[in-house]
Amino acid sequence: MDIIYSALVFLHMIGLAGIIAGFLMQVITDNPKSTKVLLHSSLLQLVVGLLLVGMAEMGDLYDPNHIKIAVKLVISLIIVVVGVLNLRKPAKNLAVTAGVLAILNIGVAVFWG
Ligand code: HEM
Repeated sequence: MDIIYSALVFLHMIGLAGIIAGFLMQVITDNPKSTKVLLHSSLLQLVVGLLLVGMAEMGDLYDPNHIKIAVKLVISLIIVVVGVLNLRKPAKNLAVTAGVLAILNIGVAVFWG
């Protein structure tokens, strides 16, 4: 159980890195693949986040803070929507929005007890 939870946290960190990487790729180099990196990473982040909550609840690992989780979920969903719009019609301000929201979610994850 512990190893699966750790693997999910690991993937959650990879997803986070992917969103920031996609955002920076698009803003700095305008690489055509950046929109896919951003969207796929935001989907990974969303799915893995939900699995982390599910595991915490099922395995009685700890009691997740539901308000914090709800805030992270809403921010993540906005990032996915922004990522889809950005894939359809790439725009640097969309990439910046996704990047800033991801950084906001790091703040929520780390500073909200
Ligand atoms: C862009 C989106 C997200 C970012 C940047 C993000 C970032 C992080 C970070 C940095 C951590 C480690 C925090 C720590 O160990 O102190 C973390 C943990 C966690 N995240 Fe996320 N996360 C995102 C989305 C989500 C979503 C959508 C969910 C669930 C709906 C979620 C659920 C969790 C859970 C359960 C943990 C482990 C327990 C905790 O510290 O709260 N995350 N996340």
